[in-house]
Amino acid sequence: MTHPVLIDCDPGHDDALALLLAVGDPRLRVLGVTTVAGNQTLDKTTRNALRILGLAGVADLPVAAGCDRPLVGDLRVAGDIHGASGLDGPDLDGPVAEPADVHAVELMRRLIVGSAEPVTLVALGPLTNVALLLRQHPEVAPRVHRVVFMGGSTERGNTTPYGEFNIVTDPEAADVVLRSGLPTTMIGLNVTHQARATAEIIAEFRGLGTRLGAVCAELMTFFASSYLRVFGFPDPPVHDPIAVAAVIDASIVRTVAAPVAVELAGTHTRGATVVDLHGRTGGAADTDVAVGLDVDAFWRLLMAAVRRLGATPAARTSGPARSVGTVPPGTA
Ligand code: RIB
Ligand code: CA
Repeated sequence: MTHPVLIDCDPGHDDALALLLAVGDPRLRVLGVTTVAGNQTLDKTTRNALRILGLAGVADLPVAAGCDRPLVGDLRVAGDIHGASGLDGPDLDGPVAEPADVHAVELMRRLIVGSAEPVTLVALGPLTNVALLLRQHPEVAPRVHRVVFMGGSTERGNTTPYGEFNIVTDPEAADVVLRSGLPTTMIGLNVTHQARATAEIIAEFRGLGTRLGAVCAELMTFFASSYLRVFGFPDPPVHDPIAVAAVIDASIVRTVAAPVAVELAGTHTRGATVVDLHGRTGGAADTDVAVGLDVDAFWRLLMAAVRRLGATPAARTSGPARSVGTVPPGTA
């Protein structure tokens, strides 16, 4: 049985790997992809999502652009990590399709309402689109199985000393999602930093002998240069595909239920995820927080998906045949 998911992302090198895992593993049924401003501006993250899906030969998924800034404040992109295009490194072809002519929140709404089974929302960038969906269309909440998001940390941050990029970029959106009452799973830096794209992993991508494998190797080579320059990391952590892997195979991450609050007012700590691992606040332990990762199982899952996609360069259908940009009709 395949699991219906929606992917919201801000490609972004690790988002690109996450998209490949999502469309390359037969256990997921990706209903659609939405994009948000984050790693780069919305036009670039949308273009990049389309480029990666085109490269993967997936030509029947609706892709819609969403919010171009956080709910409060200004957008600050991560060009120092992902480059001016948001996917610097490989010489990628342009998109083979256009985004759908509806806003991401409307696409999310239509796909959730139209799904026979509850849908898992996998959020890989700032939570702006997801928060807006829950605020504008509370009626869809019962049809959402879970929100699995890459963001936050039980420890330190990466964008500020205590703030992880996706949450720091839009703390108010994260607060809306975490206090929505929906089942949530937080995949934070404390586990994603365990999944490093080492030289051996890059060689394994290249050793697949496919264009897709080579692009993954080039993406990770650029990502590695950014992480070495900015953080002094010899190998870059791939954050986003861990969230997708957790939906495919829950045994890959170990989670504990804990209260998670987002600091909105801290002078030095705005955007921090305050994870109460020892129940000291008396808050509701309503977020499943990832605290462990089966690193080898994760890489096997991702490599298998890239191998599978690379072996089938033809456009793949991932549901009822429809051209990209064709979204379900609006329902009342
Ligand atoms: O902090 C890492 C997260 O921020 C990842 O999702 C990365 O793609 C960026 O969006
Ligand atoms: Ca991301």
